[in-house]
Amino acid sequence: MRHLLSTKDLSREDAILILDTAGEMAKTQERENRKLPTLRGKTVVNLFFEDSTRTRTSFEVAAKRLSADVINFSAKGSSVAKGESLKDTAQTLQAMGSDGVVIRHSASGAAARLATSGWISSAVVNAGDGTHQHPTQALLDAFTIRRHLKGGEAGEGLDGLTVAIVGDVLHSRVARSNVWLLTTLGAKVVLVCPPTLVPIGAETWPVDIVHSLDAALNGYAIDALMMLRIQLERMTGGGAAFFPSPAEYTRLFGLDGSRLARLPQHTIVMHPGPMNRGLEISAEAADSPRSVVVEQVGNGIAVRMAVLYLLLAGEEVA
Ligand code: CP
Repeated sequence: MRHLLSTKDLSREDAILILDTAGEMAKTQERENRKLPTLRGKTVVNLFFEDSTRTRTSFEVAAKRLSADVINFSAKGSSVAKGESLKDTAQTLQAMGSDGVVIRHSASGAAARLATSGWISSAVVNAGDGTHQHPTQALLDAFTIRRHLKGGEAGEGLDGLTVAIVGDVLHSRVARSNVWLLTTLGAKVVLVCPPTLVPIGAETWPVDIVHSLDAALNGYAIDALMMLRIQLERMTGGGAAFFPSPAEYTRLFGLDGSRLARLPQHTIVMHPGPMNRGLEISAEAADSPRSVVVEQVGNGIAVRMAVLYLLLAGEEVA
């Protein structure tokens, strides 16, 4: 693996290798000394043109736990504000000796452009490009599902499990990444959203599509329920073009206490964050014992350590 750009490119074997490596990394994080020498002398650049809390900080923690040097670049306050291009920005950072570049950008395809343009020689990790892909989010989601529902066994996929992904699928790179990764790993994926939030071409994806959360709860034995953030910043008019009102959306697609109570006992509730509490998920559901939202964030460190390790070192975990 030279870059990590999309889960659509990952074979089952590659995906399981990353999850298994993340499992080894997670074990090292239970030690008193959580730092590994594996990437000593390497430099990782976090190149963020869009806001982030979880992804940026966990890539930074992951790189530091592997003893890499880290350069954090945020477009806000940089020469990007003066009009500097992606190419010039990336080449400037490459000149400082980067081995790996973790990029988040509002443009779909930005990570692939950086990886294939020949502008830089670093390995590229896509940390979210427009509405296209967010592969490490899907990998940490799969890691979390496997731990809870398959015992976290090395070599295991997600065969036989059903994952429902609920909400703003249209604008969600998390949903797109999960559709491909979860199905590659053997899970059945059900998309639950209003017809206005179904992406063009989704009828060709390997998924079922349902237009009411109650219908999904009645029709499927759901093992993991993944709620998506309504991305109001990507909608004009506060969502008015996509659903009549926030209250109407919550009534049909929101996860509240009564819907939570209808799920099978073992079902886990997921959300990639940040959450709109009271819109797609109630505080009762978000904070319930079945919610693994905070655990997802923690698992992001092990998964990102695994990805950086496999791209930049390629040796056995010490
Ligand atoms: N899930 C996720 O990508 O969160 P951030 O935007 O905070 O990185």
